[in-house]
Amino acid sequence: MARLTTLISILVTVPLISSSIIPILSKHQQRPLSDDDDNDTPLPLIIWHGLGDNYAAEGLAEVAEIAEEVNPGTLTYMIRMDDDASQDRSATFFGNLTLQIEKVCADLAVHPILSTAPAVDALGFSQGGQFLRGYIERCNFPPVRSLVTFGSQHNGISEFQRCGTTDFLCKGAQGLLRGSTWSSFVQSRLVPAQYFRDPMQYEQYLEHSNFLADINNEREVKNQTYKENLEKLERFVMYVFEEDETVIPKETSWFSEVNGTEVTLLRDRSLYKEDWLGLKTLDKKGALKFETTKGGHMSLSESLLKKVFSDNYGPYRKNLGASGEGREDL
Ligand SMILES: *[C@@H]1O[C@H](CO)[C@@H](O)[C@H](O)[C@H]1NC(C)=O
Ligand SMILES: *[C@@H]1O[C@H](CO)[C@@H](O)[C@H](O)[C@H]1NC(C)=O
Ligand SMILES: *[C@@H]1O[C@H](CO)[C@@H](O)[C@H](O)[C@H]1NC(C)=O
Repeated sequence: MARLTTLISILVTVPLISSSIIPILSKHQQRPLSDDDDNDTPLPLIIWHGLGDNYAAEGLAEVAEIAEEVNPGTLTYMIRMDDDASQDRSATFFGNLTLQIEKVCADLAVHPILSTAPAVDALGFSQGGQFLRGYIERCNFPPVRSLVTFGSQHNGISEFQRCGTTDFLCKGAQGLLRGSTWSSFVQSRLVPAQYFRDPMQYEQYLEHSNFLADINNEREVKNQTYKENLEKLERFVMYVFEEDETVIPKETSWFSEVNGTEVTLLRDRSLYKEDWLGLKTLDKKGALKFETTKGGHMSLSESLLKKVFSDNYGPYRKNLGASGEGREDL
């Protein structure tokens, strides 16, 4: 469907709609969630947008409309760094991810509806996907039930994306790279540098990465909380775009490692085999899904989103059907 093909068109200037438009599209009054067995109110949905996008973008409002259509009564919350949409966009390029995730944790923890829900579902577009994983690992209050990520860089990027010719914000960000990717100056300011991961510079990455090396539990001392929190997911669905040329390497969206020419699938990596993050545990219970979809980065169709929302989101007590599909052989 055409209207969504430009959704979250990263590094392309997105026309901002008035930031006074609150992206809560629920036509139905959100009822408080209770322990009532026949409560069919869907869990709230939190969405973290990608690089170069902003929380008030029209494309995201359309996604919220689809969520409402599939699961009527869904309250959708767009994660933001700032209520001002252009500041929010700027924060996709600039900032310290430690602080950005802390802010999201603080915002969600005091949100009147999200913080009282038994759980929320989560949707991550591009870099928003690994940031949501960071939220789950570090805070997870309110806890996430289903996490779905599209074209996210779970295993980092080994090249920075090119900027659109008129995208000065992006170019400004690239300008910072005249310094070293691994300097603390860059690591505390340039968002994509904090998930830069070139296997050829692995030692530097381990030492200096301000976000990914930590959140992926790659350092010698593992954080057990990260693993425990991620293991609580009922679903973790990772989509890779078959023709993705924006994210290098695109296999990162499946948590694969690419070194030069060889691709090591997640299930063959130590991170999985030694279960640093609980991904093996999730896989065993049938909760980890590797999916592909056609097209380039963020080419999403309405029908795909409908399927994803129907399969993974909805009422708290909905049976997501994970049991029985587990891989006991792993
Ligand atoms: C592990 O992560 C949690 C949550 O962010 C944090 O509170 C804790 O201090 C971390 N533990 C270690 C050993 O770093
Ligand atoms: C990012 O912010 C955190 C929290 O203030 C700080 O501990 C960390 O050193 C910062 N990162 C860098 C690379 O400066
Ligand atoms: C790439 O990974 C493969 C498989 O783990 C390994 O055998 C090879 O030495 C690696 N190549 C480089 C250049 O690091």
